[in-house]
Amino acid sequence: MNTDKRKVVLIGTGMVGMSFAYSLVNQGGICNELVLIDVNKERANGEAMDLNHGLAFGKSNMRIYAGEYSDCKDADIVVIAAGVAQKEGETRLDLLQRNTEVFRSIVTPVVKSGFDGIFLVATNPVDIMTRVTYELSRFGASRVIGTGTSLDTARLRYLLGEYFTVDPKNIHAYVIGEHGDSEFVPLSQVMLATKPVVSILNDERNSYCIKDMEQIEEQVRTAAYKIIEAKRATYYGVGMALTRIVRAILGDENSVLTVSCKLCGEYGERNVFIGVPTIIGRNGVKEIVELDLTEDEMDKFRASVKVLNENFDGLAL
Ligand SMILES: NC(=O)c1ccc[n+]([C@@H]2O[C@H](COP(=O)([O-])OP(=O)(O)OC[C@H]3O[C@@H](n4cnc5c(N)ncnc54)[C@H](O)[C@@H]3O)[C@@H](O)[C@H]2O)c1
Repeated sequence: MNTDKRKVVLIGTGMVGMSFAYSLVNQGGICNELVLIDVNKERANGEAMDLNHGLAFGKSNMRIYAGEYSDCKDADIVVIAAGVAQKEGETRLDLLQRNTEVFRSIVTPVVKSGFDGIFLVATNPVDIMTRVTYELSRFGASRVIGTGTSLDTARLRYLLGEYFTVDPKNIHAYVIGEHGDSEFVPLSQVMLATKPVVSILNDERNSYCIKDMEQIEEQVRTAAYKIIEAKRATYYGVGMALTRIVRAILGDENSVLTVSCKLCGEYGERNVFIGVPTIIGRNGVKEIVELDLTEDEMDKFRASVKVLNENFDGLAL
């Protein structure tokens, strides 16, 4: 991987992809070259023009252009936010199969270009599409990452911060599992500063209670549905989550983020890609931080793994 130039290729310049690109440009200093690729070349061209025209107002000095798969050759990160929408009457598995074909048309030419960096996937269902990317690319597992439950975790920390009236930065909590209905919050791992939240909830001198925690967890789980109901799609949040992960990689931060990555024996599981707290640095996954889950939390985790494995096993790769 080159160190002087930080080059990102974005494949899929729809709402999610461009929210990511826009936040990358606005946050500045993360990369100095951004290539946009989409099956709709005209769109990618228009988006590159639009972003370039805003550069003078931002703090980044970036080279932004619509490119080709050959441009992935010397990229550090390829972000995939391309996907097709569910058709009327189409099952989730049919959609998954169509998105797998979309990914085949993307991952194959990226690998053929000589790309030797890190794949970062946002397309839903993100855990499955990340595993599909891993299988199609045959890259090492540490170099294939999905956004996982990073956005869900940000939502959780925001809501817990509001609830306890504490800066979310001082709340340590994760949403883990599938980025979807079977995700959950291991309450035993939630800390306010270094104090376990469970002990705060059990303290009768305050009005905080477990019931409220369950409501917050439900709010996190259903947030995407609510946003989609109100404005048809969600994109800013995940765009910023992608930016955060890219910053952790290119800055070699070794930050802990709940990305989707391959389990290799952690939590007693193998092969599945799932959202877990993971140390992310210049080479992608440095280490999965294995939490000490309670038996009940382990049951929930295993149930989430089961959902993901069943979905993946139904795919023709
Ligand atoms: N991970 C998350 O937390 C999260 C959150 C929100 C949305 N998403 C997912 O992100 C994906 C993109 O959503 P969106 O709202 O941007 O959709 P969108 O329809 O606005 O954009 C998709 C883009 O992909 C492009 N595309 C389709 N097939 C392609 C191909 N073969 N090669 C290259 N480009 C191709 C389309 O032309 C389009 O520009 C969806 O799968 C969505 O579910 C993920």
